[in-house]
Amino acid sequence: MPQQQVTDSHYATIANHYNHAFFHGDSIHYQKWMLKKVLHHLQLTPSDQVVDLGCGTGTFTSALYDEANLNQDILGVDSSPAMLKPANTLKGVMTHCADAVSFAQLNEYQYDKVLMMGVIHHIEPDNLPTLYSGLYRQLRKGGKLLTVTRPAVVHYPFFKLL
Ligand SMILES: C[S@@+](CC[C@H](N)C(=O)[O-])C[C@H]1O[C@@H](n2cnc3c(N)ncnc32)[C@H](O)[C@@H]1O
Repeated sequence: MPQQQVTDSHYATIANHYNHAFFHGDSIHYQKWMLKKVLHHLQLTPSDQVVDLGCGTGTFTSALYDEANLNQDILGVDSSPAMLKPANTLKGVMTHCADAVSFAQLNEYQYDKVLMMGVIHHIEPDNLPTLYSGLYRQLRKGGKLLTVTRPAVVHYPFFKLL
């Protein structure tokens, strides 16, 4: 089975549980910390047009929309229809189901900021130049792209247990 099909099948299985794992309990503190970091690095202003590539369930996307006080909905793009389903119902999010590399080749999209959070490890290394050059073409002059990922080598547990 092609790797992308394996990935999409994985997310179809966990889609209903994803928010519970990442946006509940102690994870909320981490998400709030992350929100501040993303706002800082993307330097969002209310008039920005924003894309969240690999937006998943859109929970973070919607929080970002609120926090940045954006005038326009964020375009949430994801290859998994199951992950995107809840995103469709959230404030400040419109969705587009597509693979990131294909999306980056579309001429009809132009925007100011693009976030890729927790998705880059799903892209085949050979496809990275096509992905990034496509996103560069889509970004308006002065635009910003932020890739958020964890280090290649991690030490467990991620957080000190209290
Ligand atoms: C770990 S989740 C991160 C979701 C979201 N960014 C967040 O931080 O909550 C990774 C997401 O990337 C999506 N994804 C995986 N491969 C993709 C691809 N080639 N193109 C677009 N999205 C992809 C998955 O469907 C999943 O929703």
